[in-house]
Amino acid sequence: MQHDSAIKHVTGRATYCDDIAEPAGTLHAYLGLSTRAHARIMELDFSAVQRAAGVVGVLTAADIPGVNDVSPTGRNDEPVLAEQKVEFWGQPVFAVVAETRDAARRAARLARITYEDLPHVLEPDVARAQGGPYVTPPLTLKRGTAETELLKAPHRLKGEMRVGGQDHLYLEGHIAFALPGEDDDVTVHSSTQHPTEAQHMVAHVLGVPSNAVTVNVRRMGGGFGGKETQMNLFCAVAAVAAKKWHRPVKIRPDRDDDMSATGKRHDFVIDYEVGFDDAGVICAVKADFTARCGFSSDLSGPVTDRALFHADNAYYYPNVLLNSHPMKTNTVSNTAFRGFGGPQGVMAAERIIEEIAYALGRDTFDIRKANFYGTETRNVTPYHQTVEDNIAPRIVSELEQNADYQSRRQAVLDWNAKGGVIRRGIALTPVKFGISFTATWYNQAGALLHIYTDGSIQLNHGGTEMGQGLNTKVAQVVAEELQVDIDRIKITRTTTEKVPNTSATAASSGSDLNGMAAQDAALQIKERLTDFAAEQWQTDRSNIRFIANAVQIDEETVPFADFIRQAYMARVHLSAAGFYKTPKIHWDRATGKGRPFYYYAYGAACSEVSVDTLTGEYRVERTDILHDVGRSLNPVIDKGQIEGAFVQGMGWLTTEELWWDAQGQLRTHAPSTYKIPLASDRPRIFNVALVRWSENRENTIKRSKAVGEPPFMLGISVFEALSHAVASVAEYQTCPRLDAPATPERVLMAIERLRRG
Ligand code: MTE
Ligand code: HPA
Ligand code: MOS
Repeated sequence: MQHDSAIKHVTGRATYCDDIAEPAGTLHAYLGLSTRAHARIMELDFSAVQRAAGVVGVLTAADIPGVNDVSPTGRNDEPVLAEQKVEFWGQPVFAVVAETRDAARRAARLARITYEDLPHVLEPDVARAQGGPYVTPPLTLKRGTAETELLKAPHRLKGEMRVGGQDHLYLEGHIAFALPGEDDDVTVHSSTQHPTEAQHMVAHVLGVPSNAVTVNVRRMGGGFGGKETQMNLFCAVAAVAAKKWHRPVKIRPDRDDDMSATGKRHDFVIDYEVGFDDAGVICAVKADFTARCGFSSDLSGPVTDRALFHADNAYYYPNVLLNSHPMKTNTVSNTAFRGFGGPQGVMAAERIIEEIAYALGRDTFDIRKANFYGTETRNVTPYHQTVEDNIAPRIVSELEQNADYQSRRQAVLDWNAKGGVIRRGIALTPVKFGISFTATWYNQAGALLHIYTDGSIQLNHGGTEMGQGLNTKVAQVVAEELQVDIDRIKITRTTTEKVPNTSATAASSGSDLNGMAAQDAALQIKERLTDFAAEQWQTDRSNIRFIANAVQIDEETVPFADFIRQAYMARVHLSAAGFYKTPKIHWDRATGKGRPFYYYAYGAACSEVSVDTLTGEYRVERTDILHDVGRSLNPVIDKGQIEGAFVQGMGWLTTEELWWDAQGQLRTHAPSTYKIPLASDRPRIFNVALVRWSENRENTIKRSKAVGEPPFMLGISVFEALSHAVASVAEYQTCPRLDAPATPERVLMAIERLRRG
């Protein structure tokens, strides 16, 4: 079954927030952004703005009736509009409200702001060297005695790696559209992954209770984590303006303002030390993860925590000490992005493996295999959760066969031995990714299911659709329970009015959570219908079966719609609210112990690249992927998720480079300077397969596994293949010093460094 909106997506008929018909009188807001990384605001002069054609007014912090804060952590460190000081270049300072979007946008440029500069810090390692501060408390994960075991280890090495950030580059940028209601009411349509949080933030900023605020989202044109919290500010500005002028207000930044003013993936500086034996088996790992968090806490706490949770990837560390350093910097506040810190942690694990392999003169793949988690022993993570379902070794060895890794590696070595300009590289890397929100209370969901008397069904749940196919999967679950065709089920927008107190659609758990909640609702109605049929037909419940679009009662088959009509006449309640919470999980951050993840998703990728050693340019010749989604709810959608995630992961590690100048201005603020992969950058040969034999050992929805984020880290195979090609110029004697993203420039510099010895 394809994505329910696939045709609408490609024909442009899908309705996004900006397509909602605007009522007469709609106004448009546009943000004015700071042009200093850190400064006191001495004076705001809006006289030219006020005089500009079409301008209705200007909003500043002083216009906020409630609290000037949209911090999702409640730390009160993220103003909607800056007050007294700005803390990054691009921070919203004011908003112009005008009759048209263009008038607002042009007028925003006319403000005169006088600043008094303050010292700024952009780089996380510089911030750490200066002694902080942290934006949120750091985390330590510890098992065994890493420091003493490092000293005892037969081999020991140390390194530093820099892993870059990433812009979400969702096709649809941020947007919010607020409509004022009576009394304190307001309705906000927005492209958000987290309608409930947007509702809370709007209420907080307006100083009204949550019951006055409704937030709706039909779909997003991509979120990728960038719309988990970053939409709150836009919702707040639109709502404040709508209430102030009693008119609908829409706000939608241009792409470069969107890129400058909203958070991205955290970049990290990772310092690691590893001890290992002659066989390359790790004895101890110690690592520090220093992250550029930006000016506020946002989600930096859980993101940097997740980096540590994934610093083992699929490998067992007998002794381990990991520390996070979530540094405050005068840059935009970094946020959730597919993998949520996990990819940065996995990069560290994979680099450590590579270092060991080069130090011992072995194939990196052998070192990977030597360090995999075991099944009965060697199976405890740095956070003391036991890995119960370790299928990484099996997936990896199947991919080794399917991708013909060994003979292709030999062919790569033979090719490179000829010493030509074009070098090749190959790498096979695994992924293990923990599924559940580490904030345990987030692992809950609700659904609301109505069956109307004509037998048509309306389905609502707390998750949001961002292209990942969540609505299709949840509808499939309901269709299966009731044995009806899926086109009988209307997929509706997500709204805080129907399902309250929802979690962000994030952590890849959308279908795990909402699928279960919807199934619960369907089962409740099914129970009532079965009771009704048993009584009406005077038969045993076991003689009642839901069959394709009908209900079979004894020998009689009643079409579904007829059956529903009869149930209604007998006064059966045809609506249900479902609920689900993930079992088994718990996490104590203070002690660094628990079972934060319900289960793990696994995968592996093998990539082969060729590199031009005179220019550093490269291309991906072939990628083979074998990925675990348990028993797939929807193989077509899952395959799409794997392909998309891989390409996005590859982009993160290759061409997508964020660059701030010394003043703190983001200079890569548009697709012209920030290069995401094109269709032509995909691997020339691209084989993607699901692990057919996998079934979730835990009782998840239909024994499936989450798929949204885990395959993002398959992109690491491209990075390590590039590293392999680079290493060939020095006969694989040295592990190349290659930071991410491995842009052609960085690849060339790594080659030159090796050539110079
Ligand atoms: N796929 C598409 N097409 N667009 C997106 O924005 N976001 C990713 C992933 N896949 C995203 C996507 C991220 S970051 C997450 S957490 C999951 O989808 C969220 O959806 P799910 O929990 O339903 O998988
Ligand atoms: N993943 C994604 N988003 C989140 C998480 C998480 O673990 N925790 C809070 N928001
Ligand atoms: Mo995804 S980063 O958890 O929205």
